[in-house]
Amino acid sequence: MSEKIRIDKYISSQTTMTRKEIKKLIKQKGVKVNSIVCTSPDFKVSTDMDKISINGEVIKYKKHVYYMLNKPPGVLSASEDKKAQTVIDLLPDNMKRANLFPCGRLDKDTTGLLIITDDGDYAHRVLSPNKNVYKQYIATLDKNANEDIVEEFKKGIIFSDGTVCKPAFVHSINKNTVTLDICEGKFHQVKRMFAVLNYTVIGLKRVRMGALCLDDTLDMGQAKELSEEVAFSALKNIV
Ligand code: URA
Repeated sequence: MSEKIRIDKYISSQTTMTRKEIKKLIKQKGVKVNSIVCTSPDFKVSTDMDKISINGEVIKYKKHVYYMLNKPPGVLSASEDKKAQTVIDLLPDNMKRANLFPCGRLDKDTTGLLIITDDGDYAHRVLSPNKNVYKQYIATLDKNANEDIVEEFKKGIIFSDGTVCKPAFVHSINKNTVTLDICEGKFHQVKRMFAVLNYTVIGLKRVRMGALCLDDTLDMGQAKELSEEVAFSALKNIV
């Protein structure tokens, strides 16, 4: 949808530049609108009709972006942190822009599928437990899993504080590796559910959210952009 917005707002939404830096750039004649030098930060531009360039490079306006990251261990699922490396730090410069955040959190040691976006409404929909969208995890346990966990997960695991989890579904068991589908995102949920059944999770990887599967050609720490259609498949369960 076409929108008319201030050029400084336009640039700050598409890049990591601050308003101050944008003002300076405009002063230095670094910004052009349809090949004409822009002289004022409050100049209004159309998000789909006008061609904006920064130092000669044309910006392709996108209201929102959706990235798939293959999260490596040891990285925080946060937008910023004073000490630790975050999932946003892993993005290459050409993918970075303002307001990016991880759509839900994976523990620091958990790996696999993480969506990064700047679309708050989308994140809300993906994460809402009321939507019952299933996320698939591969858990490596400290010992071989017994078949009876299938029923336990289906019944709904009860944490020691009385919290009842929604039914979870074991997709497959191979010795100490269990593939499990859950539709909630409680703190350390998978690890805590297995702990109730006397297993310790020693490795955890998320491989699917709704109908969106982790692209296994992505190296650990690598990200790729998703089309809106593919990103929104995370809201649909595979039946
Ligand atoms: N459940 C966990 O215990 N940890 C995660 O990172 C995700 C789900």
